[in-house]
Amino acid sequence: MNAPPPDAETITSLLRSVIDPELGADIVSLGMVPAVSVDPDGVVTVEVKLTIRGCPLRAQIKKDVESRVAVHPGVTDVRIEWGEMTAEERSEVMTKARWNAREQAATTNVPNTTRVIAVASGKGGVGKSSVTVNVAVAVAAQGFTVGVLDADIWGFSVPRLLGIDEPLEARRIEGVDKPRIIPNSLPVGRGRLEVVSTGFLVEESTALMWRGLMLSKAVEQFLNDVQWGELDYLFIDMPPGTGDVQMGLARMLPRTDILIVTTPALAAQRVAARAADMARRSFLRVCGVVENMSEFTCEHGETYALFGTGGGQALADEIGVSLLGQVPIEPTVAAGGDAGTPVALAGSGRAADEFRAIARRIVDEVAPPANMAGCSARMLQMVAAALDAGQSGQSS
Ligand SMILES: Nc1ncnc2c1ncn2[C@@H]1O[C@H](COP(=O)(O)OP(=O)(O)OP(=O)(O)O)[C@@H](O)[C@H]1O
Ligand SMILES: [Mg+2]
Repeated sequence: MNAPPPDAETITSLLRSVIDPELGADIVSLGMVPAVSVDPDGVVTVEVKLTIRGCPLRAQIKKDVESRVAVHPGVTDVRIEWGEMTAEERSEVMTKARWNAREQAATTNVPNTTRVIAVASGKGGVGKSSVTVNVAVAVAAQGFTVGVLDADIWGFSVPRLLGIDEPLEARRIEGVDKPRIIPNSLPVGRGRLEVVSTGFLVEESTALMWRGLMLSKAVEQFLNDVQWGELDYLFIDMPPGTGDVQMGLARMLPRTDILIVTTPALAAQRVAARAADMARRSFLRVCGVVENMSEFTCEHGETYALFGTGGGQALADEIGVSLLGQVPIEPTVAAGGDAGTPVALAGSGRAADEFRAIARRIVDEVAPPANMAGCSARMLQMVAAALDAGQSGQSS
């Protein structure tokens, strides 16, 4: 039986997770969505008003709107009607955007233009941390600055996987009252990783003592107190099977995309589907599925599907997103992790190639970096320049 079509209010809630990266706020609170309607057949029509016609962000906003709405049960089609703001509406949006930018600065320290991707799964041990680290490295190698936040507060593995064990430094930043945590920086090809983990704060053996700590609180602190700097991407390695971190992220960074990792076993796929469902209920978008431990090819070239087949594709179909890649079981993945040199860095073989292909798909298709050369950023600058000119004109 098909689900009944959702009401317009539900669709509007979903759209609150679509961020105009340049204006730094969601398109609903910016007043860019004057109308939403749903017909009895489940066809959703969303009116989106752009700040100016031909805004280069149009394609990104379209993709974000469609991908968030289309997967909702009962939705059969998504149509976008484009409009353009009047000069008056535009100046109102600018005022709101500035206000939001100030408000937002108080809650998280992750730049508005950063694409945030949380790597999650329904159960533990499927390779979230391995996927996070390898994909982050492969994205950085393309020339991006990539943050890695190890949200697995007591089971952290990112420090070992990246071969970093320097303790984090806290530093006073001018104009900020509390000292800020400076991430551990690691050059990767033309790009860079900025890494934060509780593993840099505590010895691996004493990590258990953190058990009592409220998980979501710790992650909140990392988002607030770390001096992230300009990041193109932030990858978050999620702890296994907990909802509170995800809820915290939904509240603090509602633009977070969820990347789901599953093994090919059909049973695992069902568990992972619960993670997708949880994402949907907190209005987070699932941006894709990665199947890990897909198959094993022995030295004689024989291939074995040790953990079954088809789970990744079945899950992607069920959620209505793309299967971004299938990473085979390869000793190089585990060995690279043990040695602190992720296989995607310089390794060869199918697993390394697959991690790099997933990174390319994220950058090119699923979550392209925010294009700051676009319309509204330029407009903000122009408005600021005009205001400055006006002020200095008045004072002289
Ligand atoms: N494709 C792969 N081939 C071989 N070994 C792998 C592969 N992916 C992960 N592993 C190994 O499987 C183990 C679990 O991986 P990982 O720690 O990344 O999983 P996880 O989902 O983060 O686990 P947890 O739920 O405990 O956080 C590690 O020892 C890792 O080296
Ligand atoms: Mg892990």
